[in-house]
Amino acid sequence: MRGHRVAVIPGDGIGLEVIEAGKQVLEALAKKSGDFQFEFEDFDWCSQRYLEKGEYIPEGGLERLSKFDAIYFGAVGSQDVPDHVSLWELRLAICQGFDQYANVRPARVLPGVNSRLKGADEIDWVIVRENSEGEYSGNGGRVHQGFPDEVGTEVSVFTRKGLERIHRFAFNLAQSRPRKKLTLVTKSNAQRHGMVLWDEVFFEVAKAFPEVTIDRELVDAVTTRMVLKPETMDVIVATNLHADIISDLAAALSGSLGIAPTANLNPEGTFPSMFEPIHGSAFDIAGQGIANPVGSFWTAAMMLEHLGEKTAAECLMAAIERLTASGLQTQDLGGTATTRDVTQAICSDIESQ
Ligand code: NAI
Ligand code: MG
Repeated sequence: MRGHRVAVIPGDGIGLEVIEAGKQVLEALAKKSGDFQFEFEDFDWCSQRYLEKGEYIPEGGLERLSKFDAIYFGAVGSQDVPDHVSLWELRLAICQGFDQYANVRPARVLPGVNSRLKGADEIDWVIVRENSEGEYSGNGGRVHQGFPDEVGTEVSVFTRKGLERIHRFAFNLAQSRPRKKLTLVTKSNAQRHGMVLWDEVFFEVAKAFPEVTIDRELVDAVTTRMVLKPETMDVIVATNLHADIISDLAAALSGSLGIAPTANLNPEGTFPSMFEPIHGSAFDIAGQGIANPVGSFWTAAMMLEHLGEKTAAECLMAAIERLTASGLQTQDLGGTATTRDVTQAICSDIESQ
């Protein structure tokens, strides 16, 4: 029996709801397979804890987390804590602390899901987001706070090392896919230093991947291409900020923010990788039991694949597709099903296979 130790951090808002649903599905898969099992450990690192104790992660927390095979994360964000505090103190502390530099975001229209975009069934993208530096390096500061001459800077940091490794990762991924295409997204017309370095390193790395067809697009133009010519793209590599934005667009074009998954990978395996749906804590629907858990299921499939459970990952993806095709959908997709309805349906489907 193979065992997988998974740290579970549901976080805030609908994170709690969708991660609980995802755990049930993972348990159903493990039971069905009989070949592997999960040892889940729940961590109460959330905004409530911050409000009570002044910290999201307790002392020694990252050290404890580093012992797990993977991290299954919900979302962080509360109306009672400034967003830059919650994000930096929890999610970014883990991503950056564990050097999870490759953020991988597949986008595809699942069967039965209605996209408002004509031709959306041709969407089959993986967005690779640089996840360790760039615009989210945290480099900057504020002076003369509260005075009329106040200044705030937010300085993007791009390093050759950081760029080489993310481009290499994106090329390897593109090479492993049937279409073998990679689109470089940047803004190197207006931003003439770091962004130009992005481009240069991309073309240097490209030399080692002659089978991959490459092209480049400025980030503003790529938003129109995603809408007007979705079939022309396969893998897309972009900076921390740019990929953050275009992956929400990709999720909406594929039907809803509620279905999109993410893996925050430390490809060398020096630290555990973290798996999370791309959405946030969704203040508007939290606590109502109506969040779409499909993003956390698809995320769980990515985690299974990472843990070496390829068959279970395929089995889960197939179950997700049967679920969406069945028309049982939550309100974000135009249906009336609850989180629990959808979770029960997929668990019984897995059991009955
Ligand atoms: P959000 O993703 O929480 O919500 C945006 C919209 O999408 C809302 O209308 C929400 O109801 C809907 N939505 C999102 N996930 C859904 C699901 N599974 N089912 C149905 N509808 C869904 O983004 P927002 O409103 O910008 O951020 C809310 C909080 O979450 C903020 O504190 C923000 O900082 C945080 N956040 C955290 C992230 C993380 O932990 N990875 C990612 C994005 C935001
Ligand atoms: Mg985002």
